[in-house]
Amino acid sequence: MTLPKHIAIIMDGNGRWAQLKRRPRTYGHIKGTRVAKKIITACSRKGIKNLTLYAFSTENWFRPQTEVSFLMKLLRRYLKRETENLVKENIRFSVIGDLTRVPGDVYQAIEQAREATAQCTGLNLVFALSYGSRQEITLAVREIAERVAKGEISADDIDEAMISTSLSTYPTPDPDLIVRTSGEQRLSNFLMWQAAYSEFYFTEVLWPNFTESHLDEALSAFSVRQRRYGKVSVNDNSIDKNNLEKLPN
Ligand code: FPP
Repeated sequence: MTLPKHIAIIMDGNGRWAQLKRRPRTYGHIKGTRVAKKIITACSRKGIKNLTLYAFSTENWFRPQTEVSFLMKLLRRYLKRETENLVKENIRFSVIGDLTRVPGDVYQAIEQAREATAQCTGLNLVFALSYGSRQEITLAVREIAERVAKGEISADDIDEAMISTSLSTYPTPDPDLIVRTSGEQRLSNFLMWQAAYSEFYFTEVLWPNFTESHLDEALSAFSVRQRRYGKVSVNDNSIDKNNLEKLPN
């Protein structure tokens, strides 16, 4: 089975899951964190090379203050409790996003987890935290514009590779597969440049109910997709100059 080299997941539906159980939204986030833990281990054991989890978007800062601070505490607790396990599983942890906005103790926990796992060579686990694709692209454009202004490069030197390497995701390869749970079918400011040729997999399952078997379903759906990157299939011989349809006059 062809495995994606990079899976990116939009873990959606914690709030609705909790509401269905008549519990506060925060309960859904607790269950969602447990599920994230299981899926991280599952990806690592399956030999997936890169996993990006959308843990908190730039827009999530506009949620009620109590929910924001709960999510930050949850993240800190996850990192404190899990770092040792990440090392044991040979998982390297890093973060993309605007960390100037996260509370100091969360930032510290992130730095500790990053340092502790820096030498790990297995799964590359990335949390998109306080992350927004538009903001990421804006920063990259600004940085390139400054280099042009300083005369280090000319405008003609700007190409797709330069933009890709200026994004925070570099050097992680673009995601082959983007999974979104809970029935929503949109990108929500996640990896917009990087998703140019990603395969999408949407499931109605709410994130707290997402299991390893759901992950397997996504992986087998991916393995039968034909990725043509805008070209035609290599086995497609139907385009033969003797066999072209006549164009209408
Ligand atoms: C979406 O559910 C989820 C989030 C905004 C946060 C994702 C966070 C977690 C899964 C927990 C923290 C993760 C880790 C790895 C420590 P929602 O609240 O938007 O749900 P709704 O759409 O049903 O309201």
